[in-house]
Amino acid sequence: MPRHFITGTELSAGEVRALVERALELKSAPYSSDALRKRTVALIFQKPSTRTRVSFETGVAELGGQPMALRADELQLSRGESIRDTAYVLSRHVAAIGIRTGEDEVVAEMAAYAGVPVINMLTPRHHPCQALADLVTLREAFGRLDGLKIAYVGDGNNVARSLIDVASLVGVEVRVASPDGYQLEDSAPGVMTDDPHEAARGADAVYTDVWVSMSDDPATAAARRQMLAPYRLDAELLDRAAPHAIALHCLPAHPGEEITEEVLYGQRQRIWDQAENRRHAQKALLERLIDA
Ligand code: CP
Ligand code: NVA
Repeated sequence: MPRHFITGTELSAGEVRALVERALELKSAPYSSDALRKRTVALIFQKPSTRTRVSFETGVAELGGQPMALRADELQLSRGESIRDTAYVLSRHVAAIGIRTGEDEVVAEMAAYAGVPVINMLTPRHHPCQALADLVTLREAFGRLDGLKIAYVGDGNNVARSLIDVASLVGVEVRVASPDGYQLEDSAPGVMTDDPHEAARGADAVYTDVWVSMSDDPATAAARRQMLAPYRLDAELLDRAAPHAIALHCLPAHPGEEITEEVLYGQRQRIWDQAENRRHAQKALLERLIDA
């Protein structure tokens, strides 16, 4: 059975720790591994992407492999071919399948029928590749993971959920501050509040994400912006965190909405490192899944 990466919790705590260390090794020696030599990785995008596509494509190439990005409208999936049949056929050609889609069920079905690892490149509920890269960024910034406290402020979305799921495996505490109606319904290992200042107090990092996600109904955008306005990541909120605190954002950003320009481009952010670390984290992930 192939090993899939759908919620992130398919990996053990030890594996996540090892993967973070391996990602940093690969960051310092990007061409040191040819784990994908002469192999192809299919990357299906049923939703837009900048970072995920670029970091997977470059990462696969750096591992000696061939990335094959497939847009939804290029596949027979768009004309009614089943996910099952697509999974069977792709598995005869490629070493792994990455998929970004607007339905979590699509990833689950792909994984059920694929003979190769399936990697979730973002669904409405999960974004585990982002969470892995975020751990790499935290480890890089602080030299450790154990005992770190992260405040996530804003919409209780896929990024928040995966951050809790993956970070809590390795002893990183995530406190989430969201208004009523925008909270994660199932955040057992995370601490929920509706007070952004309370979440940020003493935190090592303050993290935010967009207020309107790709899977959200655009008709709700105005209401979301109004409800989430008090959760903006600005310098004043960052001042509530620890003196050494960093600002994080998975991007794309909307400066003036969920984050101020001052924080996005300021001295305390590690946001552009975060974007780079996607590649290193995903290379370490691909090495691990392909070898399994
Ligand atoms: N953070 C992230 O996944 O960015 P993209 O949507 O550009 O891939
Ligand atoms: N929550 C955002 C993340 C984008 C990387 C979305 O799903 O659109």
